[in-house]
Amino acid sequence: MSEINWDKLGFDAYRTRTVVLSHYKDGKWSPVETTENFSFTLDPFAQVFHYAISCFEGLKTFRQKDGRIAIFRPDQNAARMQRTAKFLGIPAPDKDLFIKMCTLCVQNNLEFLPPYGHQASLYLRPMLFGVHPQMQLVPYPEAYFAVICAPAGSYYGEHLKSFAGVIPGNYDRAAPKGSGSYKIGANYAATFKPYKTAHDQGYTELLYLNSGTREFIDEFGSSNFFAIKGNKYITPLSDSVLPSITNKTLQEVAADFGMEVEKRPVRVEELADFDEAAACGTAVVITPMSHIDIKPVLEEDKVEKSYRFMPDGEVGEVCTKLYKRITGIQFGELEDTHGWCYHIEEK
Ligand SMILES: Cc1ncc(COP(=O)(O)O)c(C=O)c1O
Repeated sequence: MSEINWDKLGFDAYRTRTVVLSHYKDGKWSPVETTENFSFTLDPFAQVFHYAISCFEGLKTFRQKDGRIAIFRPDQNAARMQRTAKFLGIPAPDKDLFIKMCTLCVQNNLEFLPPYGHQASLYLRPMLFGVHPQMQLVPYPEAYFAVICAPAGSYYGEHLKSFAGVIPGNYDRAAPKGSGSYKIGANYAATFKPYKTAHDQGYTELLYLNSGTREFIDEFGSSNFFAIKGNKYITPLSDSVLPSITNKTLQEVAADFGMEVEKRPVRVEELADFDEAAACGTAVVITPMSHIDIKPVLEEDKVEKSYRFMPDGEVGEVCTKLYKRITGIQFGELEDTHGWCYHIEEK
């Protein structure tokens, strides 16, 4: 038996028991392998090392109140990975293979699935990367698809606690008409340096603007942005934003609550009018912002403008209500009227 403190889990790389793996070569996926070997042996010329031909997904598995096991909306992640793989020019698993390998990963790492009652889950990380050895900048139909997992608690260290954000005037996340809407590793590489600077200054998150004109809000480095204004749920419409499954889910939850959902370009100045503003995503669930600063140059002291939503650490009424509904469904405490939970057998 493992000795995991389920109440103290963060969001960390965690060595579990098995990896689930398949290799696409010569027009087909190899038989699925479930292995305790956590090392991949690849040719140093493999596309992934040089040209970042790599993408991934993130989704959670829950031990529910009645003891059943549910993966949350895996069909959506399968579809998003297919869209990303098409952009990278590598083969993607179809929905059935994707879900089968996620299921196997859970079943073969069951001792790492947090028991019900700890606000924790088993995070699945399906990854797909080009392994063909080549120098030329052309796609090639060869890839590894692997599913790994890690027990996960709160991404930011605590559940439902508001954080400080910053808009960095001198960094962009994704080019207009670029790769921002795909879940490729390269999008994240561009955020490591500004994240380090922001964290050193006490900010938790970076909020990126649209790169072209810098007039509109795109998303956080790790998650989508949404805001609450009266009875409205407002979230940016942008080609450079990752289509978040959590955001899509929350839009439906908000509509269920009788809220008006607006998906449209959101101007930066609108931050002054919002009652609540938050990050949403699989890892962060809903994490509200206490305040956000606009800094023309992240590395310098100057703050051009600051917007406050909540006293530090506090959380607004609507974010709390949305959080309780989505996590209630995930943990099987509330009725899953939309059929979002995909139940799997123990073995
Ligand atoms: C950049 C970015 N945006 C948004 C999201 C949220 O997407 P999802 O809700 O599908 O996890 C993520 C991942 O969690 C992300 O990395």
